[in-house]
Amino acid sequence: MSQDAQIDFTDPAFQADPHPVYAQWRRTGPVRRTRLPSGVHAWLITRYEDARRALADPRLSKESAFSIGSSRTANRADGPAAVLSRHMLAVDPPDHTRLRRLVSAAFTVRRIEALRPRIAEITHDLLDALEGRERADLIDAFAFPLPIQVICELLGVPAEDRDAFREWSNVIVAGAQSGDRLEPAIRAMVGYILGQIAQRRAHPGEDLLSGLIQVRDAEDRLTEAELSAMVFLLLIAGHETTVNLIGNGTCLLLRDRDQWERLRADRSLLPTAIEEFLRFEGPVETSTFRVATEDVEIGGVTVPAGDPVVVVLLSANRDEERFSGADQMRLDRTLNAHLAFGHGIHYCLGAPLARLEAQIAFTALLDRHPGLSLAVAPEDLRWRPGQLLRGLEELPVRLL
Ligand code: HEM
Repeated sequence: MSQDAQIDFTDPAFQADPHPVYAQWRRTGPVRRTRLPSGVHAWLITRYEDARRALADPRLSKESAFSIGSSRTANRADGPAAVLSRHMLAVDPPDHTRLRRLVSAAFTVRRIEALRPRIAEITHDLLDALEGRERADLIDAFAFPLPIQVICELLGVPAEDRDAFREWSNVIVAGAQSGDRLEPAIRAMVGYILGQIAQRRAHPGEDLLSGLIQVRDAEDRLTEAELSAMVFLLLIAGHETTVNLIGNGTCLLLRDRDQWERLRADRSLLPTAIEEFLRFEGPVETSTFRVATEDVEIGGVTVPAGDPVVVVLLSANRDEERFSGADQMRLDRTLNAHLAFGHGIHYCLGAPLARLEAQIAFTALLDRHPGLSLAVAPEDLRWRPGQLLRGLEELPVRLL
């Protein structure tokens, strides 16, 4: 493969199975510049060791990088998107440290564990609604609404708005690829979030949003733009990621029925199985953008100052140098230090929540639908476009 080989992220064959292409890149050019669907050229990091180092390298800054990924309309300085862009995943220390600290107490393993009964209730309500049906799209009926309902309740915003929110969220995450739909979606999202903040301000509750408003108004440790951006980030993270952990994991198990039966027979495998879903077909394909603040050497290649860098988490997690039998899904895999939740200071804040939701979701599915099966041939499953996320458009299943 020549050094200027490109990945066509929009090619349906690549979307269906990007792993062989990434394997080739790891072998022949593990740090290489390519054109992303947005038109931006970025350095792609595809090997595990380089990826882990890059994610924790302070010379790779978020501060100037976020507007690159979100297209020109998302420029910080002006436009509606400015309201959404000052969040922790888009800034460096010390702002990052301050913003993350404001919410980290709500996401500790202990605080999240306390949500278990409510998450189980939501899970069973969703599965109750499927009773008597022979077929369903498991994304639409289960994998998507579960994490949404949970994050909306945690924040204190009504989950009834989730369909509109899903639409805007999908458009915004697809970035420049959404074309003319991007700007209206950003406007709608900003209006929605500002409306929610105004409502909570007028009628505070026990929820996270009321707590953040209190921090903003009484203690002045958060600007108004940072407040709306925080709500935006938490809602987007809650909408776009765990859905893919539940969807991809179920798909992996149903594509290889022996694995489904194995997990059904031995539930002690569930924690390692969930980590293996995260490694093998993780919900987030690439990291968000970083920008080199000086010339940075990665894997023997010099990335020039000012250039954008993207870490391909999906590829790092299949690196043979790090994981034995990397292309095999092993439900009992231990020593599974995957990068599906990132690494370094931006390591996923929601990881304990995502893990708990997955644990409850898979337990309930295995218990209540032991005969669950794919309703379409595996090759007919369609994967969502775009380079950031790895998830199915639909997961049609037979329930009986
Ligand atoms: C399986 C589900 C999830 C996966 C795979 C995932 C993955 C990630 C990854 C890879 C990053 C780092 C991105 C980068 O460094 O460029 C990240 C950051 C983050 N995630 Fe998640 N995420 C998941 C669920 C959630 C949930 C449910 C929430 C919250 C409700 C959440 C909140 C966040 C936040 C706030 C950050 C930014 C942290 C920071 O900048 O310090 N995530 N996530």
